[in-house]
Amino acid sequence: MKNEEVIQRIEELVVPIAMQHTPEGSEVKAVVDQWLHAIATDSDFYCDTMKVDRIKLKKSVVKILKENKLFTDRTAFFQTVFGNVKLKPKKNASFRFIDLFAGIGGVRLGFQNAGGTCVFSSEYDKAAQKTYEENHGEFPFGDITKIDENTIPDHDYLLAGFPCQPFSHAGVSARNAVGKKHGFLCDTEGTLFFDVMRVVDAKKPKIIFLENVRNLERHDGGKTFTTIKNAIDESGYNFSYKVIDASSVVPQRRVRCYIVAIRKDLGVTFAFPEFTGPPLALKSILENDVDDMYTISDKLWQGHINRTKRNVERGTGFTAYTADLDKPSNTIVARYGKDGKECLIPQSCKNPRMLTQRECARLQGFPETFVCPTSRTPAYRQFGNSVVVPVITKLANKIKMEKL
Ligand SMILES: C[S@@+](CC[C@H](N)C(=O)[O-])C[C@H]1O[C@@H](n2cnc3c(N)ncnc32)[C@H](O)[C@@H]1O
Repeated sequence: MKNEEVIQRIEELVVPIAMQHTPEGSEVKAVVDQWLHAIATDSDFYCDTMKVDRIKLKKSVVKILKENKLFTDRTAFFQTVFGNVKLKPKKNASFRFIDLFAGIGGVRLGFQNAGGTCVFSSEYDKAAQKTYEENHGEFPFGDITKIDENTIPDHDYLLAGFPCQPFSHAGVSARNAVGKKHGFLCDTEGTLFFDVMRVVDAKKPKIIFLENVRNLERHDGGKTFTTIKNAIDESGYNFSYKVIDASSVVPQRRVRCYIVAIRKDLGVTFAFPEFTGPPLALKSILENDVDDMYTISDKLWQGHINRTKRNVERGTGFTAYTADLDKPSNTIVARYGKDGKECLIPQSCKNPRMLTQRECARLQGFPETFVCPTSRTPAYRQFGNSVVVPVITKLANKIKMEKL
């Protein structure tokens, strides 16, 4: 039987059982992929532990696979499950992690590069789920707010690039309980950060790794950051953070806030690595012979010229008409696809052009093997929302060096 046929046969057997464990807001495929990866990497199963014992459930699934001659040993099974996956983990990983707000898996990739294996992922955007599955061979679980924290498999590191607007004074929700536990005021309740803390409190990983916008530190006069810091401290973790500019590792000025919190009983103080070196030049990642569909329209270009003029007069916002190819680009954000104002590539005798999907992938340090979405709008959103993979890899390696 070909590899794909084996996988199909395995899925036929596992789907009916996995359906009983699929949470609201997630696809059964997420449970199936989690189980197969857990068997292949010798990790915990996702399941409702109030209903069934994790170990017993895993044993019963392996037994069915054995009876159907679809499992002989873990090495062969790892090859079956990960054989065709583009970005696969090591068979014997040195640590296990979960990937929350997974996007297209930039954070995952960094920690996988450092020798870890992912045991649970959650991302609710359909287009991002597709890109994630295509590259990591895993369909993520959906809305994290609908997932019971106790069902999540055991892990060493919890990774979360939680959305940038977490403390938008939005409505109060079921997550209040966690917010209240930490003694926070109404205006910080109902935020996704507390979904992260809900999982932390239930699973007590060794490390919490968070990535967010640079402004997190100053948001709401510093109250948001204090809230995060206090919540992490109260849950029993030593908090450390650093604001890092990625432009010495990729040609993009992307300044982000990284938080590394280590469980207090481990007695380790984390020191962030340095990111020094000259900024890289945007021209180093540009493609040749780019299709004319990336060239912006006269209307868009005129709008851009008018806005830039206004910015120059007022001394605010972007004041360069097109990107300087000898310098790093501005930060590529999720809305880049709207008008490309963050980075327009000059062209001779034509309007400037937008970046291609591959160029966006390179600006974020994704490998050339990464399969980019073909549709441009979701691609720009996904890469704009993602992270600089080599920055994450360096941080992950430093965390690993602490023997955690
Ligand atoms: C800033 S992006 C993180 C990107 C990711 N770190 C990466 O490397 O691609 C935040 C992601 O959280 C997802 N998200 C927001 N709310 C969510 C929820 N309730 N459940 C699951 N995913 C959610 C968004 O769709 C978005 O892709």
